[in-house]
Amino acid sequence: MSKILVVGSGSREHALGSGLARGGSGHELLFAPGNAGTLALGRNVAVPASDVPALVELAEKERVDLVVVGPELPLTLGLVDALAQKGIAAFGPSRAAARLEGSKAFMKDICKRAGVPTASYAVFDDAEAAKAHVRQAGRPLVVKADGLCAGKGVVVASTVEEACEAIDRMISQGELGDAGRVVVLEELLPGEEASFHVVCDGTRAIPLVAAQDHKRVFDGDRGPNTGGMGAYAPAPVVTPAIAAEVMTAIVEPTLRAMSEAGAPFRGVLFVGLMIDQGKPRVLEFNVRFGDPETTVLVPMLDGDWFAVLDGAARGDLSGVAAKTKPGAALAVVMASERYPASPATGDRIDGLEATSPEGAYVYHAGTKRDGDAVVTAGGRVLTVGAQAASLAEARDLAYAAVSRISWRGEHHRSDIGHRALG
Ligand code: AMP
Ligand code: GLY
Repeated sequence: MSKILVVGSGSREHALGSGLARGGSGHELLFAPGNAGTLALGRNVAVPASDVPALVELAEKERVDLVVVGPELPLTLGLVDALAQKGIAAFGPSRAAARLEGSKAFMKDICKRAGVPTASYAVFDDAEAAKAHVRQAGRPLVVKADGLCAGKGVVVASTVEEACEAIDRMISQGELGDAGRVVVLEELLPGEEASFHVVCDGTRAIPLVAAQDHKRVFDGDRGPNTGGMGAYAPAPVVTPAIAAEVMTAIVEPTLRAMSEAGAPFRGVLFVGLMIDQGKPRVLEFNVRFGDPETTVLVPMLDGDWFAVLDGAARGDLSGVAAKTKPGAALAVVMASERYPASPATGDRIDGLEATSPEGAYVYHAGTKRDGDAVVTAGGRVLTVGAQAASLAEARDLAYAAVSRISWRGEHHRSDIGHRALG
């Protein structure tokens, strides 16, 4: 029995907490800052996920055995390093290793050194030189801000002009602040995306079931990009042969290159894949679990989540098993009015007390308690899912659970899983 601090407040952290609490584990859970859902699993402490000194102080004061870091920001700010200095074990990469997500130029450099298949690219800090590169290429390119931009730093341009405008906004006008002063220009890759997570202890890597997210806000993959509107696993686009190739051609060389760079990777490496004609390439690395992907990864693991997270944190995953359960899981994000542009908050959520169908589950994200009620407190409010013997069954159960919950202005996609379900 351990005392565990989970950092973050999304459906990812609620799902990880429920994985840690599974099977009456008896672990004591703290969340910083957590949400209305995590209150059912443990204690919420009002420390923001970005406040590194306050988080270290909390972990020390509470004498926690393990800190599980959900979001990327505290990782890039060095939370795991600061905890290590106090002798506190933490799940997540060091600040140096978190650059795989925190700097796209660093990520591309590691891929090049490791011989990992990814889009060809060039890095610029000068707008005129970047625009000349686009014009010379004569075709649309993907423009990416080097630093963290909470999903706003990537423009998949469909014309040369659009790419040049994005370069001007990022470099010349500084619209994304320092994060956009350096840009990576990348070749546009065709194909189908998938989210491939591996838990790493510095040298070893254990793959989890492949998942797929749905980034656009509306059905049929239309409308603006979001943090993710739903997920399912397994994703059939990642065949067993492709999963094996991802391990040997992408994950293992990347881990070797990170060790050689003096930044061995511990934690979860989320490989954003583009798969074209059976060939996987890396679109991006994230150094934390995907959200909403985690809401399907947690129920699909046939194993002990504590052993997986603690083994990675301590740098020894030998003997840790992470098999995948049979069947499938599918989860739908329920979002607030005007998400993603300017989400409404403070709306009372109805139907949370209704019993969900067997196999269904509700993970909270942007929610908070207000007296006896639970109200919306962010753009992505709940992730409602189900696990079942087949993907079609999981979808039906998940949507049955979604239909019992409502609030003013709520919206969700009705086609999660469409690529696999047809
Ligand atoms: P990211 O924030 O890096 O995940 O990028 C956001 C989205 O942009 C990805 O999920 C892809 O849909 C798309 N994207 C990024 N890079 C490329 C690329 N080189 N080719 C095609 N699409 C891309
Ligand atoms: N769902 C995509 C992400 O977590 O980045």
